[in-house]
Amino acid sequence: MLQLAPVLAVAALAGNALAQSSTTPLAAKRFQWNNLPYKADTDGGIRGEQVGYNRCNATTQNQDSLCQTAVINSIDDFCLWAPPTPGEEVGNIEGEMVAWCTKEGYGTRIIPEGALQGVQFIRTPHYVQVVGFIDQTKINMLADDYGGEMDPHGADQRGNPLGGLVFSNQFSANATSMNGTAGGQRFSQVIQWHNFMGASQFCLKACDPSWENGWAMCEHIYDRIGCQYNAPSEWTKINGTYESCEGDDQLYPGQYIENGQTRTYTQPPESLGVITSIPYTPFTPPSSECTPYTSSAIYTAASQQAAATTTSSASESMTSSASSVSETSSGASSASGSTSRSGSGSGAAGPSATGSTGGNAAAQGGNGDSGAEGLKVAAVLTAGVAGIIGALVAL
Ligand SMILES: *[C@@H]1O[C@H](CO)[C@@H](O)[C@H](O)[C@H]1NC(C)=O
Ligand SMILES: *[C@@H]1O[C@H](CO)[C@@H](O)[C@H](O)[C@H]1NC(C)=O
Ligand SMILES: *[C@@H]1O[C@H](CO)[C@@H](O)[C@H](O)[C@H]1NC(C)=O
Ligand SMILES: *[C@@H]1O[C@H](CO)[C@@H](O)[C@H](O)[C@H]1NC(C)=O
Repeated sequence: MLQLAPVLAVAALAGNALAQSSTTPLAAKRFQWNNLPYKADTDGGIRGEQVGYNRCNATTQNQDSLCQTAVINSIDDFCLWAPPTPGEEVGNIEGEMVAWCTKEGYGTRIIPEGALQGVQFIRTPHYVQVVGFIDQTKINMLADDYGGEMDPHGADQRGNPLGGLVFSNQFSANATSMNGTAGGQRFSQVIQWHNFMGASQFCLKACDPSWENGWAMCEHIYDRIGCQYNAPSEWTKINGTYESCEGDDQLYPGQYIENGQTRTYTQPPESLGVITSIPYTPFTPPSSECTPYTSSAIYTAASQQAAATTTSSASESMTSSASSVSETSSGASSASGSTSRSGSGSGAAGPSATGSTGGNAAAQGGNGDSGAEGLKVAAVLTAGVAGIIGALVAL
């Protein structure tokens, strides 16, 4: 019950804040990769301040990073949202999650060696998606945590995490270059995305920002039914394998076809208790042109980090021709023994670029999920307490 108290408080107050808020929803704010503000969340509110920052650079590239700018580019280049510190269930701290990535160069934490146990990246006409299996204890999650959903909404529209941004080089809309990036990659802000973390699985779907139906495909209201229903995939084939595929679009989350008719599932309010059955099996579109990989070959930042941690006195000087970041290992300067760097990173300069262009995207998707409820809520809450939350969220 101790853990439930903050959930109740946030749900209750967020309901009010939503009604009275004049702040710009996170999903209606537009940012450029090469001109990110220190924090995307500037208006404050009942959930407090954004815990981290969006302007991340070589200085913030370490395992204590509070970077809240994530990327999803490819099977070997993506980030997941995970807790900044261990000990809490995701459902209680969705607002505080930070970016953990497979590659260096974004000023984030690195997903540690051995955490990823199987990954499928898929690119379809309207989104990219990465799903897989993970030893979630390696990214500060509790072993038995069923987790929760992160997305750029929440009842107060400030996002989970608060101010969390996602970028990708897979879409062309309004893309800007990362200074010094190999091959001149161009990144654009992903407006609609969702990420479920929990039960040793993860899924992150990023919808094409120029696609008008991205809000539906990256819907955020099915927050209690996890990856299976929000990111249908060939789950039984994925653990232990690493592959990058092409694919067709899924149906929108919650949609299914019965007797030739498209139907839409309504996730029941929590007042009705734990969800024990769902009247459909999600449709998984076929994948094709899959390329298999070996994890040790593609997640090299993790193994380098592991090596650096064990040989903290080693000194190395590496120069990446692409980024011109010079690295100097100094185990003494960091409790974790991770490499500290000096040099020029990405997105370090420039004033706030908070162009807030219209509330269209947010309005389309803004039908009141609490953002404070995790998947664990479904498993743990009694009907009585759930009823209170449901009533408050409905305010
Ligand atoms: C990009 O990098 C170059 C060389 O490091 C630097 O001179 C230039 O000012 C940078 N531009 C931006 C926009 O940061
Ligand atoms: C691209 O930029 C234009 C002009 O700022 C803006 O109206 C539009 O919403 C942006 N599109 C995306 C997908 O960010
Ligand atoms: C995935 O595979 C690993 C290694 O075989 C295993 O330890 C883990 O339990 C599997 N995860 C799930 C969720 O089945
Ligand atoms: C790097 O990013 C951090 C966090 O946003 C910021 O405080 C710091 O000033 C940045 N460093 C440089 C050199 O821009």
